[in-house]
Amino acid sequence: MADQPLWHGRFESNPADSLMKFTQSLSFDQKLWRDDITGSIAHVKGLVHSQIISKIEGEKIVTALETVANEFANDKFVFVASDEDIHTAIERRVTQIAGDTGAKLHTGRSRNDQVATALRLWCKRELANIAKLTLELCEVLNKRAGESGWGSDGVYLPGYTHMQRAQPVLLAHHFAAHTWAMLRDVDRLTQTIERLDVSPLGAGALAGSSLPLDADFVAKELGFARRFNNSMDAVSDRDFVAEALFDLTLIGVHLSRLGEEWVLWTTQEFGFAVLDDAYSTGSSMLPQKKNADIAELARAKSGRLIGNLTGLLATLKGLPLAYNRDLQEDKEPLFDSVNQVGLALQALAGMISTATFNTQTMKSAADSELLGATDLAEWLVARGMPFREAHAHVGALVSKSIRDSVKLSQLVTADEKLGADAASLLQPGVGISRRSTQGGGGPIPGAAQAIELSAAITVMRARVATLVN
Ligand code: ARG
Repeated sequence: MADQPLWHGRFESNPADSLMKFTQSLSFDQKLWRDDITGSIAHVKGLVHSQIISKIEGEKIVTALETVANEFANDKFVFVASDEDIHTAIERRVTQIAGDTGAKLHTGRSRNDQVATALRLWCKRELANIAKLTLELCEVLNKRAGESGWGSDGVYLPGYTHMQRAQPVLLAHHFAAHTWAMLRDVDRLTQTIERLDVSPLGAGALAGSSLPLDADFVAKELGFARRFNNSMDAVSDRDFVAEALFDLTLIGVHLSRLGEEWVLWTTQEFGFAVLDDAYSTGSSMLPQKKNADIAELARAKSGRLIGNLTGLLATLKGLPLAYNRDLQEDKEPLFDSVNQVGLALQALAGMISTATFNTQTMKSAADSELLGATDLAEWLVARGMPFREAHAHVGALVSKSIRDSVKLSQLVTADEKLGADAASLLQPGVGISRRSTQGGGGPIPGAAQAIELSAAITVMRARVATLVN
């Protein structure tokens, strides 16, 4: 018996070795043990509730399931060769423990609704944890923003477009830009969790059952917000996995952007930031090296995250209703993406919270007079000159300054349209102090943004708290 799969009934010979090796999912779906048992306990309670099995039988099966849960929790569960996935392994063991009564566990249920139930339970918990970790990184960034200062004495650095120095911005503003993006990631995860909060249990193989199952009852038992509306959709819907993978991929893409900046910031060429030793790596050959491997891997991991997402979408494409074995391929990309994003978020949070900043280097880079060119053009606009004309006028001075190696401020002072007042805009820290647009990169709007960002984090923290239990 032990070397035959649970579905052996209509077969005359045992499955080929190569079939078992190729079709098994036990090697990767073991991590669903807790959720499979949770789903099974609810199912058994449902069978009792609908009087399909007796109360005593129900208790016996639940006790066996709890024994199995203990075996897993203590690393004592023993798999046998015919266990093709975690679901069949657990049912086999329950039947071993509870005998004929245990054999009633799968009444009115298919692995198709069973696996979908377990995976949704797993997603609810694990995505909530990723939301929490993402929020923690947001909090680190917000803290570093606050430390670097939102006010007129705040640290500033060049803001870049096309990776060319563009205009000075507060370091806090730069951190906040990443934080807002990641708050959207947290928001997206909470919405994904809300959408996937549906119980597929009772859908059976694809059409439900002739037994008087109560899908609402088991949905409630499992803490799902609602039950499925359509049994075929319930067993074949993996939208929630695709959506989870998208959310995770976008977090990965955001982390890759952050990672790339930190790779640059910690180079000798930039010299904006220094990593704590605990978050840096060395070279096996070059004794002087201190590398930003966390930042590099944060940049790199987005590649496999995108691969996991597109891989699953390709698997789902063209699948006819209802369940197909193809759907078993949903798990590895999902588990991998959750794992990698979780690791990246924690490593980056540690790296960023312990790094030190060369604030003088940042400021000096931003104090280049050329970064005030826009302020000069806007100064002319404020005095009535059409912007395009002002742009051309200042552009010509910039060109002359570079060509003749003359300081821009010197040319501005001598210029009949600009003069000494305008030249004072090019002094360190003046340009940034004049930036006034709401949400802009200077200290005037910075005060409001600091409040808005902290408030947004507080709102998300409350939402995530309702998900993590
Ligand atoms: N291991 C399978 C999965 O992950 C379980 C479902 C198998 N169902 C079936 N009807 N063969 O999807």
